[in-house]
Amino acid sequence: MNSVEIMKISPIIPVIAIESVDDALPLAYALMEGGVNIMEITLRTNAGLKAIEIISKKLPDMSVGAGTVCNRIDLENSINSGAQFIFSPGINEELVQGCIKHDISLIPGVSTATEMMFARNKNIKQCKLFPAITSGGIAHLKAVAGPFPDMSFCPTGGINKENFKDFLNLKNVLCVGGSWIVPKDEIKNKNYKAITWLCKEALGT
Ligand code: 3PG
Repeated sequence: MNSVEIMKISPIIPVIAIESVDDALPLAYALMEGGVNIMEITLRTNAGLKAIEIISKKLPDMSVGAGTVCNRIDLENSINSGAQFIFSPGINEELVQGCIKHDISLIPGVSTATEMMFARNKNIKQCKLFPAITSGGIAHLKAVAGPFPDMSFCPTGGINKENFKDFLNLKNVLCVGGSWIVPKDEIKNKNYKAITWLCKEALGT
């Protein structure tokens, strides 16, 4: 899948720090029930890689990518676990070259014009805007549409149910990322129905 295809799977990409491998499948089912067929599982927890492996093996209808991939070791661990695409909070040469070598899509985080130029010069035109709110949010995305009209973004970091539609209305935004539809407490309490409900609320279904 290329980055545009990935970013068009769902208007909302849940960003997940999974604490227990046992939550992987029920959480994935809850998201699919709510109409969200994509997950970014971050490598911030020990369970992250195993969760990616389980979901990618057992749920072909769920697209699962690794998040918080910062270096070549993270990248190789993610690919070995079955990650179908790679998200990073930032961008560096190591990740760019590693993803080219392994022929896997990289959606890196950028926030400044310089980082956008770096990504674009590597022919990476789909990026996260991270951290979306503190780097300037909607005004920032409108401003960078001038010099970078061929780039599109998945704003992530501070996106919530109050502001996500304003981001989705921008012409250079394909989707948003966020954790608000996968609250840690609901996962911890195995309240998967609440997660399905949050997805449906956000998608208006
Ligand atoms: C993160 O850094 O965890 C992601 O960008 C999600 O941010 P959020 O919790 O503000 O949605």
